[in-house]
Amino acid sequence: MIKLTPSLLAADLMHLGREIEKMMENGIDQLHFDVMDAHFVPNLSFGPAFCQAIHKHFPTLKIDVHLMMDNPEAYLDVFAKSGASSITVHREVLSDPAAMIEAIRARGVTCGFSIKPETDVNTLLPWLDQLDHILIMTVEPGFGGQAFMPEEVEKIKALRSAGFRGDIAVDGGVGLQNLELLIGAGANWLVMGTAYFCAEDPKLVAMKVKEYA
Ligand code: DX5
Ligand code: ZN
Repeated sequence: MIKLTPSLLAADLMHLGREIEKMMENGIDQLHFDVMDAHFVPNLSFGPAFCQAIHKHFPTLKIDVHLMMDNPEAYLDVFAKSGASSITVHREVLSDPAAMIEAIRARGVTCGFSIKPETDVNTLLPWLDQLDHILIMTVEPGFGGQAFMPEEVEKIKALRSAGFRGDIAVDGGVGLQNLELLIGAGANWLVMGTAYFCAEDPKLVAMKVKEYA
């Protein structure tokens, strides 16, 4: 199933309620929520209180929390309680991946691992049976609006060849121009910041993505 997940980072934060309403009117029921700690990535973004405020106003909206942090284990509880429907943590910071999967699932949230461009896709292989989704970064994490890295597409193909049947998300520089490439390689979950929220007509973007469904 093809899922379009706009990334909050590119939304007009001064009019966020309206942005989310419009998104839901366009038939989109999930939002990508980037959490940055200024250490794992060189930027700061949103925290749990912000997630909770969104969840309170939009209880049916699925919130996909992408933890770009050195110590995600310390924040699982608070994000689960703040309305996260899925949590993605970075493989690079995990010393005990199995324990992390268990800890996320125990909180009633689906679980995914993400890898940065320099990380070998083989580091995910032992966990394929246990992960709900995998998020392939197609830019260096930390900022929206960067150029897509086409070489990362091979990782999607490698995961499908290895038999992964869960969702494969792509994050960074994703837009209508590379959908065919990404979906053709086996990705089905499209995180779009700039390409959705900064589009002249986000509704048209949503409609075009639906054509791939
Ligand atoms: C980047 C974030 C992305 C970001 C993508 O580190 O993880 O979710 O919002 O933004 P675009 O789609 O503009 O590349
Ligand atoms: Zn993200």
